Amino acid sequence: MEIKVVSGDITKLKVDAIIVNLFEGMESPAGATGAVDQALGGLITQLIAEGEIKGKLNEMTLVHSMGKISPARVVVAGLGKENELNLTRIRGVAAEACRFLRKVGAKRVGTIAHGAGSGGIDVEQSAQALTEGAILGLYTFRKHQTKEPDQKDVNELRIVEMDRKKLPELKRGCARGRIMAEATNLARDMANEPANYMTPTDMAEVAKKVAQDYGLEFKVLEKKDIEKLGMGALLGVAQGSRQPPKFIILSYTGTDPSKNTLGLVGKGITFDSGGISIKPSEGMGDMKGDMSGGAAVIAAMRAIGELKPKINVTALIPATENLPDGAAVKPGDILKAMNGKTIEIVNTDAEGRLILADALGYAGKLKLSPLVDVATLTGACHIALGDVCSGAFSNNKELVEKVIKAGEESGERFWQMPMDEDYKEQNKSDVADIKNTGGRWGGAITAAQFLAEFVGETPWVHLDIAGTARTDKEKRFLVQGATGVTVRTLVNLTLSLAQE
Ligand code: BES
Ligand code: MN
Ligand code: ZN
Repeated sequence: MEIKVVSGDITKLKVDAIIVNLFEGMESPAGATGAVDQALGGLITQLIAEGEIKGKLNEMTLVHSMGKISPARVVVAGLGKENELNLTRIRGVAAEACRFLRKVGAKRVGTIAHGAGSGGIDVEQSAQALTEGAILGLYTFRKHQTKEPDQKDVNELRIVEMDRKKLPELKRGCARGRIMAEATNLARDMANEPANYMTPTDMAEVAKKVAQDYGLEFKVLEKKDIEKLGMGALLGVAQGSRQPPKFIILSYTGTDPSKNTLGLVGKGITFDSGGISIKPSEGMGDMKGDMSGGAAVIAAMRAIGELKPKINVTALIPATENLPDGAAVKPGDILKAMNGKTIEIVNTDAEGRLILADALGYAGKLKLSPLVDVATLTGACHIALGDVCSGAFSNNKELVEKVIKAGEESGERFWQMPMDEDYKEQNKSDVADIKNTGGRWGGAITAAQFLAEFVGETPWVHLDIAGTARTDKEKRFLVQGATGVTVRTLVNLTLSLAQE
């Protein structure tokens, strides 16, 4: 989709449809909506008076302009209560309005920047949220469907503004919004791919392409390198698969290389069958998305490469399948991680923490600090927080607060979970240094405590996205399938750390 900021009169725009807006409870529309209303002979005011348009959040009303203005159709999008308008709502309204117009068959769409006039929202941020909402809300994954879609894509969006002075801010916001949203959609594409199209090798190929296109350094550790490094936990998970494991490394240098390097670590299980502790078959297909954390990290690196903040960032993605076969790791086996710690395998389905143990160990070797890892790690986190918040676990109060704040700016929600030492008790093994499951109770926390054993003193945040990485229903800027969650949070965190 092509998005442009243009100045002028929205009623004269050469598009198929325009989006204007209305706050709840407003009886006569102002600004651009008012101008459109006037040109339509007071039609919008009349529909408000008749109670058809209420301005409730995400209410969409379509009116036909019958030749009175250049665009044939007008959507009046409800913004909800004026004092409750925020960037999250703008993203959502933009997404809903664009999808609404796609159903109507509009290909070229004009819109005003919601809240940037009298709404009191920062002009640049409003344009960013609008752009993000449109691109994220219109996302589809049709790669494997050979039939033409029933509905045409919206392929042109014009953000229209009367006041020329606002154009530079609107353009900046629009440009950043596009980078953020397209990176998010890259993560969605990767996670939506079936596992036979997104193997560890395929993941490495995507990362390589991102590195080439956005000026990052790319390296992949092959199985023999992984063996040399002694990453026994990652190798243990990989040994049941015919696909070779890949340890993917992307680096961005935005400042003096002797300065700290932020480390982003993402779980890259391209298919999680559970291994010998095999999962029930119902819903197992969703486990093609068990590399969502790794995809988010690769996608965030792409946006970082585009935005070029003054900070160094290295991304680590351990990638493998988790499958059962004659060579697979078995319950009772003991693996040795890169940092020398021995791990008793109680359940081969707790594989994410194993591959992350070695990735975090490697991050320590590279002295990356601070560290943020992202993983679809535990069903327990899904049970605890549903599909609304991702879990945040940390050994550092300041860092976790920064992550949560970066999330708020992105419209992504995190909830901090406890990390009391007492939880470590459940991970104690009788035969090895630690075991890979701590039982049912507090399963998301014991998983995080397991990871903590491989982090040491480095400031670190673990984000468990098991509940938020995919969604079954269309909801505001989310569409069914992979959500791309944490991409924008990681990018905003990186930008804010670069400011320090
Ligand atoms: N990838 C799963 C977690 C998951 C579940 C992600 C559902 C997304 C949706 C993870 O590898 C796993 O299987 N975890 C086990 C751990 C248990 C065996 C300790 C779980 O949560 O059941
Ligand atoms: Mn598993
Ligand atoms: Zn898994």
